Amino acid sequence: MAGKSAKRLLRALAGDAMPTPPWWLMRQAGRYLPEYRALRARAGSFIEFCLSPALAAEATLQPVRRFGMDAAILFSDILLVAQALGQPLDYTDDGPRLAPLAPESGLRALRRDGIAALAPVYETVRLARAALPAEVALIGFAGAPWTVATYMVEGGASRDYHRVKGWAYRDPGGFAALMNLLVEATVAYLAEQIVAGVDAVQLFDSWAGVLPEAEFVRWVIQPTKEIALRLKRRFPAMPIIGFPRGAGVLYERYAAESGVDALGLDTTVSLAFARDRLQTKLPVQGNLDPVALFVGGRVLEEAVATIRDALGDGAFVFNLGHGVLPQTPPENIAALSRLLAQ
Ligand code: CP3
Repeated sequence: MAGKSAKRLLRALAGDAMPTPPWWLMRQAGRYLPEYRALRARAGSFIEFCLSPALAAEATLQPVRRFGMDAAILFSDILLVAQALGQPLDYTDDGPRLAPLAPESGLRALRRDGIAALAPVYETVRLARAALPAEVALIGFAGAPWTVATYMVEGGASRDYHRVKGWAYRDPGGFAALMNLLVEATVAYLAEQIVAGVDAVQLFDSWAGVLPEAEFVRWVIQPTKEIALRLKRRFPAMPIIGFPRGAGVLYERYAAESGVDALGLDTTVSLAFARDRLQTKLPVQGNLDPVALFVGGRVLEEAVATIRDALGDGAFVFNLGHGVLPQTPPENIAALSRLLAQ
């Protein structure tokens, strides 16, 4: 087995088709787990939790311990980068809140070297990697620049993205300065996670789907390509998974042009399209509806079988099409793990 990784996730990401797919779940650590809620209650604020290596490493390990996924994902959040660059961040019951970044003055005030503040995250990686079985992969991650920029400019989730898209349309040169800064920070941040011991990285571009094609190329594909190129120069063998959520048919251009090694598919991606147009180019990961996992039973069984029938003969990692819902019964994930082992 020379050259073959013992880690099933890495074999699938390298292009192997496997009889039972390796699996993990986006947002597999979280409020649906009683042990997570207990840990969270000890942690103070969510940001303090993310920056406490012992607690964050424990949150990283909890789902793997309970369900035996083939990968753990670092417990952190994509918006820590915005906070490290100098933008005040708070997590409320309605989601993350940031002081919206003003073009020019806001951009000038950002601390380019701020991501040094994320050193505790690399310690979490070291602790989690040391505690995980050798055959379980550890995934590092960052938000892709476009998605992090949407939160920085809108100040939180948005209905129509008019502030961030407005800036990008009105003043593409000024907006490019923010995006370049985010590319730099993301490369530095992921490189440190890799040095600390992650086995693969995922770029979450959760709001890739709100852009027309030309802007998708400029603000989603190009920054991703720059990040992939620069990481590959230093770490040629490190798998990069791109997740351009909501990209629709533009997944095909993203697959061809972004330089990532594997594609995270959102729930809406057609399985025939994924098999015929995407999996022929790159390994794919996805794309169970989180609501089917929440519902469980026959609904879950049928949805899992449909996805495996379509994608299981090629390079494939089983996952959700978006994160685990907080209301999900943990026993449905145990049922999923039994289904996937068959
Ligand atoms: O288990 C994992 O997947 C690892 C940890 C992880 C978190 N966030 C922890 C978290 C990861 C990979 C993320 C990514 C993330 N964060 C994304 C990209 C994926 C996506 O969902 O589209 C985005 C957009 C964010 C920003 C964010 N963080 C939002 C919108 C929210 C609030 C809404 C929500 O779902 O709770 C968060 C908070 C957050 N991030 C929590 C967790 C476990 C909940 C905080 C709590 O425990 O109260």
